[in-house]
Amino acid sequence: MFILSNIRVAVVGVGSCASSLVQLVTMAKEEVVGDTLKGVMYEQIGSYNANNIDFVCAFDVDQRKVGFDLADAIFAEPNVAKKHTEVPKQNVLVEAGPLLDGVEEKLAEIIELSSQINEVDTKYVSERLKEVQADVLICYLPTGSYEAVRAYATASVEAKVAFINATPEPVATDSYFQAKFHEYGVPLLGDDLRSHLGATTLHTALIELFQSRGITVDDTYQLNFGGNSDFLNLSSPNRSASKQKSKRNALHAAGIDASNVSAGPNGYVQYLGDSKVCYLRLEGSSVLGSPISLELRLQVEDSPNSAGVVINAIRIAKVAKDHGLSGVIDDVCPMLFKSPRYGATESEALKLLSSFVERYSKVKIPR
Ligand SMILES: NC(=O)c1ccc[n+]([C@@H]2O[C@H](COP(=O)([O-])OP(=O)(O)OC[C@H]3O[C@@H](n4cnc5c(N)ncnc54)[C@H](O)[C@@H]3O)[C@@H](O)[C@H]2O)c1
Repeated sequence: MFILSNIRVAVVGVGSCASSLVQLVTMAKEEVVGDTLKGVMYEQIGSYNANNIDFVCAFDVDQRKVGFDLADAIFAEPNVAKKHTEVPKQNVLVEAGPLLDGVEEKLAEIIELSSQINEVDTKYVSERLKEVQADVLICYLPTGSYEAVRAYATASVEAKVAFINATPEPVATDSYFQAKFHEYGVPLLGDDLRSHLGATTLHTALIELFQSRGITVDDTYQLNFGGNSDFLNLSSPNRSASKQKSKRNALHAAGIDASNVSAGPNGYVQYLGDSKVCYLRLEGSSVLGSPISLELRLQVEDSPNSAGVVINAIRIAKVAKDHGLSGVIDDVCPMLFKSPRYGATESEALKLLSSFVERYSKVKIPR
């Protein structure tokens, strides 16, 4: 009988999001079996709990991370994700990956490039993924790394490793990759990870609430500020174009014309560290054309907020692989990503995701 083993995960970009993910998996492993972790929506997906995840390889370009155990690299500068738990050695040394356009503009001021990046290419990454028998690759490259994201997506599909694109660079929304992942029989999830309860989720849920009462949304904004390296990178207009587009896609899928809506990263405020602050306003017309407006301020820890979504995406990618699904896994993407191939409203997205989880949790493969 085919018995499942743990999910073998490769990480590309050992930044703040990766730090929170590794910490979350560590905490899951320390939990008494059966206890639900706070903020984790599904205890089990398919036959996988959150503690059934093992990290098997990792790539970065910063010399403070390359050559170090993943457990240490996640706490190296310039990462600012908070340490919520001690992380035991993972026995995974972070390796140098191909640089391409990974580090440009403001990031070049804070990332110290490893000399080893000149010795590797996409083919090397693909060979390593095969060697370590990775099941899933999670791509946490900086926004704007168009070429680098494509290179790792190519390495992943050629090694037959499921790909999760946390970045807003187009992979799941790119027809070339849609066809390639389908042809190679490999699952693809993306693009641009949503946060567990972040600005986009709150914004789209509020738009749906207004619309469910027949109230039109006439004007709205979503202003975001933060102090991690993602926000520093996004403070360069050339690097933030894909993020702005992705946020507008999410609002468009929620049912409003977002072409002129200001929704994006609006500033780097260093002292905020990994805290993200969002100011959100909606103005609408209600009964008899009476005006209604709503303003709120959301503050979250940015990186753990992404880990709450990735912990589902990883298990879904593996379940899809176990069941021979290939190409973009459309049912789950609207809930997990801001820029899916097919957008949906907040409640439709949740329904689609939940029914996928329910469907594949009924057909359990023994562990
Ligand atoms: N924080 C969130 O909640 C959130 C939500 C949605 C999407 N995202 C996206 O996730 C991505 C990662 O975010 P983060 O906060 O971890 O960023 P980060 O800047 O902390 O980490 C990026 C890492 O990538 C490394 N890197 C750069 N070029 C590389 C290359 N060519 N090969 C390998 N590694 C390379 C950097 O050295 C750094 O360690 C970003 O694209 C961000 O927009 C984050």
